[in-house]
Amino acid sequence: MKIAVMPGDGVGREVTAQAVKVLKAIVGNQLPLELIEAPVGGAGIDAAGDPLPASSLEIAKKADAILFGAAGMPGDEAIPYAMRPGASLLRLRKELGLFANFRPAFLFPELIGASTLKPEVVEGLDLMILRELTGDIYFGEPRGIRITASGEREGFNTMRYTESEVERIAHVAFRTARLRRGKVCSVDKANVLETSQLWREVVTRVGTAYPDVELTHAFVDAAAMMLMRAPKQFDVIVTGSIFGDILSDAAAMLTGSIGMLPSASLAGNSKGLYEPVHGTAPDIAGRSIANPIAAILSMGMMLRYSFGRIEDANRVEAAVRKVLADGYRTADIYQPGSKRLGTAEMGDAVVAAVMR
Ligand code: IPM
Ligand code: MG
Repeated sequence: MKIAVMPGDGVGREVTAQAVKVLKAIVGNQLPLELIEAPVGGAGIDAAGDPLPASSLEIAKKADAILFGAAGMPGDEAIPYAMRPGASLLRLRKELGLFANFRPAFLFPELIGASTLKPEVVEGLDLMILRELTGDIYFGEPRGIRITASGEREGFNTMRYTESEVERIAHVAFRTARLRRGKVCSVDKANVLETSQLWREVVTRVGTAYPDVELTHAFVDAAAMMLMRAPKQFDVIVTGSIFGDILSDAAAMLTGSIGMLPSASLAGNSKGLYEPVHGTAPDIAGRSIANPIAAILSMGMMLRYSFGRIEDANRVEAAVRKVLADGYRTADIYQPGSKRLGTAEMGDAVVAAVMR
């Protein structure tokens, strides 16, 4: 198993270390494990003057899978785009063709009280946001800030999707739904945007090849509302990059903490990049209080999707469940009466649960 480890910045470093610790405990000496650490984000700038150093990209390209922490720094947006730490992740996704981003939102029964929503609204929640990751307004050209004829500055970006890009992600959505509850909701803004109009048309056409899967469409504003009002109606939500970015943070909060949610970004073969949905969290970085569970579960997704090690992946998830059932909590999911742990202590608790 050849794995590129890219902890990045902020809490990314703290949580990735825990995921690696649990990975080593799970794999033990069953398999040769080759872990190659490579700097990205602010760490890449420090090491090589580039948020995605050529050597790091090379390591990522050669690896079977990438464990990613988080990249970015406060004030990022003031740095030119190409040098921006947060943008290194976007380049990495694009360079590796990681177009299918799986962002599950599920509620651990032990954490039902941690959600800000009423228990009956979120109990049993299990949905998958499938976010297209290499197109959309994130990558569309032209983009920039220019001076208009009247001499004022104007910012502009371009939302674009080609038919083949939509087809490709739609197939992934329908196939994913077949392994779940057989429902796809495609989210767009087809009442306003041509890009979305084409998106909807293509998803509908692809859907005819999957008559066993129920396909619905929703506008993104309505989808956001439905996510808050009755999230359990969703199984798979498929959407473009920007809508998926926003909806996945919202969906994360249904489960109590964004610190719990893993993600996988796949290229259509077994190669994948695995990262927590959360970012660098500069406000709590360096204090050893970040929740490593999202990173640990991301590593579990890696075992499942890139290495086909289903049993090991199940062991990771079971260990997390056990730790939660034992009442251990990081600060973000702390409730009176539970036992508060720091980042590394939570990692140790998961390792201990794996070994039990
Ligand atoms: C995410 C993040 C990234 C994104 C940022 C860090 C570029 O918010 O993975 O959701 O917008 O894709
Ligand atoms: Mg985001």
